[in-house]
Amino acid sequence: MQPLKIAVLGSGKGSNFRAILNAAMAGQLKIQPVLAISDHPEAGLLSLAENLGVATQVVSEPKFRTRLSEEVETGLVEDIRASGAELIVLAGWMRLVKSPMLEAFPRRIINIHPSLLPAFPGLEAWKQALAAGVEKTGCTVHFVDGGMDTGEIISQCEVSILPGDTAETLHARIQDAEHRLFPEVISRFARREIL
Ligand code: GAR
Repeated sequence: MQPLKIAVLGSGKGSNFRAILNAAMAGQLKIQPVLAISDHPEAGLLSLAENLGVATQVVSEPKFRTRLSEEVETGLVEDIRASGAELIVLAGWMRLVKSPMLEAFPRRIINIHPSLLPAFPGLEAWKQALAAGVEKTGCTVHFVDGGMDTGEIISQCEVSILPGDTAETLHARIQDAEHRLFPEVISRFARREIL
């Protein structure tokens, strides 16, 4: 079976992309990253991709903060198509995805979110969980639709909230869980069990 070609979009430090690459190097999933995209020139996933010789792209969006304008997103669709990516992986991409991408890649865009959706969508979900006083939270991988952290759930991993947890300790344990869950879900796509 050929390695699954993936495009990865992220805005942050890139720890999930690193976990995906580590799992691939350990032989746990067969992927070929073909394009790394960010809306922040300093995002961690760009330097990870550059070190591997994977094409990178910085998206500039002067008009909106929480989504891309239709023109910019349409350009991105063309670039992703040209890359040959079969799966689009949102790994800390902090903008809503709209119709140009959703119509171009139906059931081909997945996202990871740091809560047990549908609980706590949106920003800093681990802080929302702490403030709500729940006993457990976790992380979710789901197909992307036009909403904020909505879309069909593919898999989840629970994380207990411990006495004395701070936002930092809880977030770190959720990220550990993300780094196991995301490669495991992508490996199911790579084995063509889901695609
Ligand atoms: C991850 O914790 C991911 O769940 C979150 O951004 C972080 C990116 O970390 N995404 C969302 O909150 C999406 N709503 P990373 O850059 O270290 O992979």
